[in-house]
Amino acid sequence: MKLIMLGAPGAGKGTQAKQIAKAYAIPHISTGDIFRANIKNNTELGKKAKTYMDAGQLVPDELTCDLVMDRIHQEDCSNGFVLDGFPRTIPQAQALTKALEADGETMDYAIDVDVPDDNIVKRMGGRRACLNCGATYHVVSIPPKKEGICDACGSELVLRDDDKPETVQERLRVYHEQTQPLISYYEEQGILRSVDGTVPMEAVFASIQKILEA
Ligand code: AP5
Ligand code: MG
Repeated sequence: MKLIMLGAPGAGKGTQAKQIAKAYAIPHISTGDIFRANIKNNTELGKKAKTYMDAGQLVPDELTCDLVMDRIHQEDCSNGFVLDGFPRTIPQAQALTKALEADGETMDYAIDVDVPDDNIVKRMGGRRACLNCGATYHVVSIPPKKEGICDACGSELVLRDDDKPETVQERLRVYHEQTQPLISYYEEQGILRSVDGTVPMEAVFASIQKILEA
């Protein structure tokens, strides 16, 4: 099964992608997580990505596409994968379509997790992230068992640098301008499915399962 998670920043793409990956035993590929791991390890890619990310801008396509194409051709992706945060621009989507076509393959679904902007701004301030294993919590709706500590790996939880309110506004602006057009792109390919992302995370997951098992 090959899936794309679409949705605004903070819509819950990562939360759902992790559940899907676990339930269907396929890798979860988050470009945001890959960039954050590179920033943490101070790599060349991380240094380049950080300036864009901290400003709420997209990392240039040329730094992003090759990275994902390499990743989806790794052994563990042979039964499928769930892409979270990629593609994010029409050129990225075209690069993905082309790379899969070369292998005689196509994506199965692009799932849009739909959440209105005002809802998103409220969510982001409460998000806490583990930079070690990528787990995500919310101080009110999805709290960790022990405050400030990751349930999965015991590392300290942080507020992401790009979750400051003014940066969130810029990320939303960039989303509407560059990423939202992908909804029509995948609608035209006949693989777009939308779910209401404003309900509790278990209910969002149930809607996604219904689509995948139809
Ligand atoms: P990325 O890491 O992908 O960030 P994003 O798209 O802005 O999305 P988020 O991770 O912020 O949100 P999410 O939808 O995963 O929501 P989450 O599940 O955490 O990218 C970061 C940056 O990297 C970009 O700005 C860009 O610079 C760069 N980048 C990445 N990919 C790129 C690409 N392809 N091209 C160019 N640049 C790229 O949930 C959010 C919060 O809500 C959490 O606290 C969660 O616990 C809570 N929550 C989730 N579901 C629910 C629910 N149903 N009810 C209540 N709360 C919920
Ligand atoms: Mg995410």
